[in-house]
Amino acid sequence: MKGIILAAGKGTRLYPITKPVCKPLLPVYDKPMIYYPLSVLMEAGIKDILVITPPDDTKPFVDLLGDGSQLGISIQYMEQKVQRGIADAFIIAKDFIGNDSVCLALGDNIFYGPFFRRKLRAAGKNESGAVIFGYYVADPRAFGVVEFDAEGKAVSIEEKPRHPKSNYIVPGLYFYDNQVVDIAAGITPSARGELEITSVNEEYLKRGQLHVIPLGKEFSWFDAGNPDSLYEAAGQIRAAQRSGRMIGCLEEIAYHNRWMEKEQFLEIANSMSKTNYGQYLESLAEEI
Ligand code: G1P
Repeated sequence: MKGIILAAGKGTRLYPITKPVCKPLLPVYDKPMIYYPLSVLMEAGIKDILVITPPDDTKPFVDLLGDGSQLGISIQYMEQKVQRGIADAFIIAKDFIGNDSVCLALGDNIFYGPFFRRKLRAAGKNESGAVIFGYYVADPRAFGVVEFDAEGKAVSIEEKPRHPKSNYIVPGLYFYDNQVVDIAAGITPSARGELEITSVNEEYLKRGQLHVIPLGKEFSWFDAGNPDSLYEAAGQIRAAQRSGRMIGCLEEIAYHNRWMEKEQFLEIANSMSKTNYGQYLESLAEEI
């Protein structure tokens, strides 16, 4: 399975902050935002990753993540020249995906919760159709919304409905089989002029191949796309990390997945020993 991080949004809801720096590179408490979706793909066991960046803005991403080899993964970069919507990622990434299945993570979505790794691994093993998630929020109107029947089967999915049929939104993490390449190429832009990811999901629903995994109340999800959600996300990550476990720690996951040698792990830990992040790595190094 291939992985894509869509990190190409202009971040206009965060202006002026995002005028000189892309949204996924902004800090969420103690690490850049993109660490969170990247950590999710790595937790899912995905090693072959494409980061889609805004036009002429790949360099800072490369400065941060390089080619991924320091984490035992491969990271490539492509630009989204024109903002055509989320589903455009599969058109841009057609050659990268090839005949594989693919997981798309949005660059500003943050997830954590118990047994997430298990859920991700299960979603990644799904060989046909689509696997997406459903997450309860009080006001779902700004998101993709999924409606379930009495048996918990998805029956409708709508993008930013004025009158939502449920409180379950579809967060920015999608697992698809290879059909997604043709489905994305065949959809038409919505009223807001975008190739909506919800249109892709609707097509899978029509084909009877959309699986929705509910994420319970014990789970946390945020879309850090405006000043309030960015601020709240930072506070929540800080509070959650007081338990002693870091969220979105790439080296920890790489080491846990045996993608990285101990020596390399120690070297990275030492290079950041002045920060909480580095000290956390050092404390793990004592355990391993
Ligand atoms: C996008 C998707 C929406 C999804 C959301 C998650 O919304 O279109 O379906 O629920 O991401 O963050 P947008 O960021 O375009 O408002």
